[in-house]
This record gives sequence, structure tokens and C-alpha cells, in this order.
Amino acid sequence: MKRVLIAGGTSGIGFVTAKLLSQKGYDVTIFGRHRDTLDRAVQKLDHHVQGKIVNAADPASLKKAMSEIGAIDHLVIALSGGKGIGKFSDLDLQDLRKGFEFKFFAQLQTAQSALPFMSSNGSITFLTSISSRSKAIGTAGLGAINGAIEIMVPTLAKELKPLRINAVAPGVVNTSWWDFLTPEKKEETFSQYAKTIPLGRIAAPDDIATMVIALIENSYITGQIIAVDGGLSLD
Ligand SMILES: NC(=O)c1ccc[n+]([C@@H]2O[C@H](COP(=O)([O-])OP(=O)(O)OC[C@H]3O[C@@H](n4cnc5c(N)ncnc54)[C@H](OP(=O)(O)O)[C@@H]3O)[C@@H](O)[C@H]2O)c1
Repeated sequence: MKRVLIAGGTSGIGFVTAKLLSQKGYDVTIFGRHRDTLDRAVQKLDHHVQGKIVNAADPASLKKAMSEIGAIDHLVIALSGGKGIGKFSDLDLQDLRKGFEFKFFAQLQTAQSALPFMSSNGSITFLTSISSRSKAIGTAGLGAINGAIEIMVPTLAKELKPLRINAVAPGVVNTSWWDFLTPEKKEETFSQYAKTIPLGRIAAPDDIATMVIALIENSYITGQIIAVDGGLSLD
């Protein structure tokens, strides 16, 4: 049974990826920072899923968890940062710095900590964001964080071969990532986006999770950034 580690699997895209993979018979471990949310997520998943408390922003926490888990075939890094959004004129650069800390560095630290345990014919899939190329007002900082990860992907694919390295760049997805907005503001934001997205709707986590799984299962793809955004980034 192939083993998949999902860093950031207690909610949203990571959670649905864990659900679909466990249904396909993979042995899945999910990471999250909080005991209550982790236990609730594991309870909703099937018996092939284990949970581990890890703070991916803390290298010691990651190192300990990786050595306890041992061999990994596929790593999915769905950690979110949630900081660094806003128009440049008002953008708090300390907030942007935190965004890099909690997403860019946390994702890289997770990948680097996992390397000694990765099967050489396995894969690492980063979750980035279409903000790296959508040019939407107020997302220059978020775009920089995600673009920085994406820039590394092809180089890592060459350095770490035959381990495959890819990224999935979602558009707007209905997950708790948006919980910084009130429910009313969230609904309004989603319906405004739906009007501009060529496919006419925002994404469900499954739309993204199925692409993550395609990258795990297609053993001839590496170094790629796959946009799953309903056409949001088309000019
Ligand atoms: N939703 C969107 O519209 C959207 C759009 C573009 C890109 N993305 C990207 O897609 C990825 C998944 O996002 P999502 O929407 O599924 O977000 P989400 O529902 O907020 O899930 C984020 C997951 O990351 C975990 N996490 C965050 N920081 C962590 C840390 N330091 N250590 C361990 N776990 C941590 C959270 O667990 P705990 O909080 O329980 O620790 C949770 O399981 C993110 O990289 C996000 O930036 C999302």
C-alpha cells in the first residue's frame, strides 16, 4: 500500500485529498497543528488515515514527525499562510513577511524535512495559487509568496530526480481559507468571482484534490505548475 503524507490535511483541499486517496486504498497520514481539529478530521476519514500534530513552521516539530512516520511515497503540501493580502499602498510588510514564513518557508521546510524519507520514485506536490499569475488587485504579496514556490519547482525537479516535483495552483476555492471574511462578505466575494471566472463558478476542494491525485498517479510528469482555476487567470 502506497503511503501519502498530507501536510495541511485537517481542512479544505488537503482534507478532501486525504479522503479521496484513502477511498482509493492509499495509506494516508495528515498533519495539522491542533488536537481538536486533527481528531475531528481523522474521525471523518476512514481507517487508512492517521493524524499527527505538527507545526510546519517549526523545524523541530517537522523533523520529529518525519522520523516517527518513516518511509513516504508521496508528499502533498497543502499548508496555507493566509497572510500578505491587500493593496500595495496599504500592505503591511510585516504581514507579508509572516506570509512568507507560514507558507513559503513552511512548505519548503516540510519538503526538505521529508526528503530523507521519500521513495525515489515518489512525488512531492506543492499547493501554490493562481495569484502568482492572475494579476488581481490586492494580490501582489500573495502572488510573490506563491510565485516564489513555483519558481523553485522545475529546478527542484531536476535536482531531486527521479523524485517528481510539481505544484497545483488553485483559483478561488470554497474552503476555510476564506474564514477571515464574515459569512456575508464571503458569499458576496464568491459570487463576484463566479461572474468573472469563465467556468462560471468558484471551485470546490474536490476540483483541486482530483488534480493533486492525478499528479501523484501519473508517473511521467515532473517540474510542472498546473493551474486549476476555472479559467480565472486567462487574459
Ligand atoms: N482556498 C482558496 O481559495 C485557495 C486559493 C489558492 C490557493 N490556495 C492554497 O491551497 C492550499 C490549501 O488551502 P485550503 O484552502 O485548503 O486552506 P485551509 O482549509 O485553510 O487548510 C489549510 C491547512 O493547512 C494546515 N496548516 C496551516 N498552517 C500549518 C502549519 N504551520 N503546520 C501544520 N498545518 C498547518 C491547516 O491545519 P490547522 O489549521 O488545523 O493546523 C489546514 O489543514 C494553501 O496553500 C492555500 O494557500 C487556496
